[in-house]
Parts: sequence; structure tokens; C-alpha cells
Amino acid sequence: MKKEDIIKELEQHRDTVLSFPNRGPWGDSRYRGNCSGWIPAYFIHKYNACNIAEVFAGSGTTYDVCRDMGVSYIGIDLNPKPLRDGIISMDILDDAIELPDGFYNADMVFLHPPYPSIHDIRYADGMWKDTDGRASRDIQEMPWEKGMQCVNHAVLRAYNAMPSGAYEVCLVGEIRSKGQYRSMMQNLAIPGILHQTFIKLQHNTVSRNRTYSGKGDYALTGHEMIAVIKKPSGYELAYVMPKRYSKDIRDCSMATWKDVVMAVVRNIKGEVTNEAVYNAIEGHKRADSNADWKAKVRQTLQFLEKAGLIWRMGIGKYALAAA
Ligand SMILES: C[S@@+](CC[C@H](N)C(=O)[O-])C[C@H]1O[C@@H](n2cnc3c(N)ncnc32)[C@H](O)[C@@H]1O
Repeated sequence: MKKEDIIKELEQHRDTVLSFPNRGPWGDSRYRGNCSGWIPAYFIHKYNACNIAEVFAGSGTTYDVCRDMGVSYIGIDLNPKPLRDGIISMDILDDAIELPDGFYNADMVFLHPPYPSIHDIRYADGMWKDTDGRASRDIQEMPWEKGMQCVNHAVLRAYNAMPSGAYEVCLVGEIRSKGQYRSMMQNLAIPGILHQTFIKLQHNTVSRNRTYSGKGDYALTGHEMIAVIKKPSGYELAYVMPKRYSKDIRDCSMATWKDVVMAVVRNIKGEVTNEAVYNAIEGHKRADSNADWKAKVRQTLQFLEKAGLIWRMGIGKYALAAA
């Protein structure tokens, strides 16, 4: 496609919602998880980028876009036989192998990582033949938490290499698979400055046609997210790395007495006695933090009764108020 025709189309897009119903003549639409070439094209044009590097280069979509826009390109992908001559076969998780030089003078790095744990998409022995047992390094094959750690490893590696002032553009999925909703964006490491986020509207996806109907309390997922990270300086490596915490509310300093007692009342089936509430809290950090914790429990139960959240059934006896 001619550069002037690409730019004419891109200049119609002015806000942070990117909608390109046609994926353009780049890459391979049969390559699972491929993205519209208009997305890298939009950011190349927006940031006047001349040197592009890419992790997870896949079917060569960004390579083809760069060729048509007349900018330089280097990409890597786990595929042992990459699909374009500007793509090098490399495992981004193997820190013993350095990134190609082009990452060190890139003014934009593009990443479109696999969506871990979507098992109906296969890269190793799906989109390419695994000739030397590298499937275990394919992030697509990994369970969700490990896969996201690896995606974040890739985000940090690319960030470490790029010069200050460069942009790192990460296109990530919002996934509902086998009854579970996962947001890659919410679990993405953000090194440097979060410059801006974009929404990419989805068109003609395979999963949209078959995964679920959009009835019930989930709406059909019709978008992906794009995080643009900017590197402010040479040495600093500041980043936000999401971490999952899982605690019992009775041990948690972030919860109030009202939160804790209400959680206990909701959990006791039938009549709620003072004794039953003491038993549920005893031995937990909430009780350890207050010498007079039983008096605090009784006081909280009285507050809850006044608020109408529980009913008093007798001396030291309560029940959850009917909704
Ligand atoms: C979502 S696809 C990228 C598709 C690409 N944007 C396109 O339009 O064709 C993700 C790619 O990540 C590659 N990949 C998976 N694990 C990898 C790893 N450890 N190192 C490098 N690439 C990996 C897969 O081979 C796949 O091509």
C-alpha cells in the first residue's frame, strides 16, 4: 500500500478509540492472534517513528507496515523459521541472548504478546512447527499468572534496551475464557511513564463468533487495550508491577471492625450469637490487635443493629437483616 494512502487513512483517527474494521494488506489474517496493521501504522505516524523494533513479531504484520511506510524494522519471534527476513528467531525469556542492535536505537518498540491460557490458540505446533522442543517457552501455552510474568519480563527487557524518549506500545487483550475474565492491561508492568492508553475496537474476530452470547451479567468483549509507555531517562528503571494479594479479611489491616464483623455475620448460617462472632475472630490478627476486642465486637454489633443491617433477636443474639 502506498505511504500517502496510509497517512490519509490514519489522519482521520484523532482520539484514543481506534477502530479499523479492515486489517489492511499486511501480515497474515490466517495467523491466529494477528493484529490489524493499522495499529502499528497509527503509532509510527503519531510518534514520527523512523526506527521500529518488535517483540512477538508473528506473521510479519508490523514488518510489512514498516516496509510500506519506509521506516526501518527489526523484530523477534520464538518461531524457529521466522516469516520475514527482518524477523530473528529468539526467545525473549532467554536473558543469555542479547536483543538485536536495532532495539537500542528504536524510537518505538511494538509488542503484541500472546494471551496466556487461551488454549484454543497454538503457536508452537500450531502456527509454526516446533522442531527443537521450544513449546515450553511459548507464553501462549503458559497458565495465566506465569504467562503474565513472562509478558512483563518481555515489557521490561524491551524497555531496558530502548533509548530515552522512545515509546513502547503494548497491545493486550481483555479475555473471557472458560468462564473466567482476565484483563492483561490490569496486570501489565508499566516501566517509565504511562504516556497514554488507547482502546482498540475488535472486528471480525474468530472468538467473538463462537465463545459466548453476551447474555447474562457479561457483555461481549468488543475491545483490546493499548498501553503506550515513554522512557524518560537513561538510567532510571521505575516500574509498577502488579502483584496479587490474597488475605483473610480477619487478618487484614485494610478492613475496619464494621467490615470484619459484617463479614462474620454474613458467614454464620442462622442465629448469630456474640459467642459465635468471638469464635470466628479469635486467633486472627484483628483480635490480636486489641486487648479489649470482645467489647469492640459487641459495640460493632450494636452499631450494625442501629444501622438496620442486622436484627436483634434477644440478649447477645442477632440475625442478618433480610435484604
Ligand atoms: C499475538 S502473536 C503476534 C501476532 C502479530 N502481531 C501478527 O500480527 O502476526 C504472539 C507471538 O508471540 C510469539 N511468542 C510466544 N512466546 C514467545 C517467546 N517466549 N519469545 C518470543 N516470541 C514468543 C508467538 O510465536 C506469536 O507469534
